[in-house]
Amino acid sequence: MKKSIILSFVLVVAIGFTAFSPQEKKGAKTTDAGKGKATQLSYKKDIAPILKKYCLPCHTEDMMNPSELYLDSYENIMAGGKHGKPIIVGKPDSSNLIKKISLKPPFGDPMPLKRKTEFPADTLKILKAWIEHGAKNN
Ligand code: HEC
Repeated sequence: MKKSIILSFVLVVAIGFTAFSPQEKKGAKTTDAGKGKATQLSYKKDIAPILKKYCLPCHTEDMMNPSELYLDSYENIMAGGKHGKPIIVGKPDSSNLIKKISLKPPFGDPMPLKRKTEFPADTLKILKAWIEHGAKNN
């Protein structure tokens, strides 16, 4: 009799374990996917549209921007402006492109200049992640 009690206890534990473990695995997968997305950020698909929307009204050669920084192509971004290269690959917090979006930039005014609404935090995260993961031209 005792044996069967122990046996059913083991069975319950085993069922409980199998019921729980897929959920844990699922959780792990989601975080992996999240990481994967950051490393897969594409300049063309993710970054260029952000710069176009928020920065290109001013940062093109036609606009004669005093910063001499043009954000309309990967080559122009990397070439930099008056204060040198705006991107330090792998170091978003040291990159002027990110620093200038903060409310207290190291020089000049916060970007985007004359903004009417706050620069969205999610969008800033995407720019940071792209720089952190190598600022690739992909
Ligand atoms: C309404 C026009 C305008 C918009 C929009 C704008 N900028 Fe600027 N930006 C300027 C002007 C003018 C300067 C030069 C004065 C200064 O540094 O504050 C400048 C300077 C900069 C600099 C310094 C470059 C250097 O080497 O001196 C960076 C970096 C920069 N902007 C990034 C951005 C980013 C990123 C965006 C989009 C999120 C953006 N700007 C949107 C007008 C603009």
